Amino acid sequence: MQPPSPDSRGAAIRFDHAGAAVLAGEGNHDKVRNGEEGGSLRWLLRDVNGRVEPGQCVAIIGPSGSGKSTLLSLCNLLRTPSAGHVFVDEVEVRAWRPSELRRRVAMVFQQPVMLPGTVRDNIEAAPRLHGLPLPDARELLERVGLFASMAEQPADGLSGGQRQRVALARALAQRPAALLLDEVTSALDADGVRTVEAAILAWRRETGGTVMWVTHDLVQARRVSHVTWVVLEGRIAAQGETEKVFASPPSEAVRAFLAGAQRPGQGEDTP
Ligand SMILES: Nc1ncnc2c1ncn2[C@@H]1O[C@H](COP(=O)(O)OP(=O)(O)OP(=O)(O)O)[C@@H](O)[C@H]1O
Ligand SMILES: [Mg+2]
Repeated sequence: MQPPSPDSRGAAIRFDHAGAAVLAGEGNHDKVRNGEEGGSLRWLLRDVNGRVEPGQCVAIIGPSGSGKSTLLSLCNLLRTPSAGHVFVDEVEVRAWRPSELRRRVAMVFQQPVMLPGTVRDNIEAAPRLHGLPLPDARELLERVGLFASMAEQPADGLSGGQRQRVALARALAQRPAALLLDEVTSALDADGVRTVEAAILAWRRETGGTVMWVTHDLVQARRVSHVTWVVLEGRIAAQGETEKVFASPPSEAVRAFLAGAQRPGQGEDTP
């Protein structure tokens, strides 16, 4: 295990009336800047308020298409807020240098794209770019439940589940202060899920890092998170301590979602 980097304290992420929109009939969200364009906007996410504390693990749950990935993408400028503000460590995302923001707030996608070269090349890419000490690729691979020897394999031959784990190792290698996880265990078997959950929670404990974790698996959400945000139709419909949200949903819509997603065969990744 490497010593924590000097800036490894977890990031604080704060949403202030944040929203994301696209021009109706268009797929290019970059054309929308604070609603100035006129025309008709389609809001993917509206009026998000809330704060993720340093070191907290927040589960983001909600039906498919409700805006969960959009919410994550606002935190590291993969998408620019169309309304309101998002702050990372109290600096508005647009005031960050994008490359530095994305190093500090690292996203892991459900279907990650591998860079050309070996698995080691993938793991070392961000540290090289940012002039950080090179990580121990073999140790990182073992941490996420892969063989250390995989470091020398070409990355393009990996299975979906292997890619998910290499992407997590790659994100940890850049010594982030927050991890944005978008359904990162969806391609894993039960053992793989547990190993990856343990690796993420150990990282959080050791570095004080912050986690925002989108999952369709409500059992996983309850296992890993302190706080849960429920996204319904582009709005935050519930926000609170995980067990309280599950025990007493604040509205009928949230109750119905939780009940539906927990029925066998309803949650997309529910075992
Ligand atoms: N670039 C885009 N242009 C237009 N619409 C978009 C764009 N990106 C996302 N959307 C729409 O925004 C809504 C929210 O999408 P998002 O990907 O955030 O949902 P999600 O909750 O992550 O869903 P899933 O669980 O299926 O991953 C969806 O209706 C989606 O079709
Ligand atoms: Mg999504």
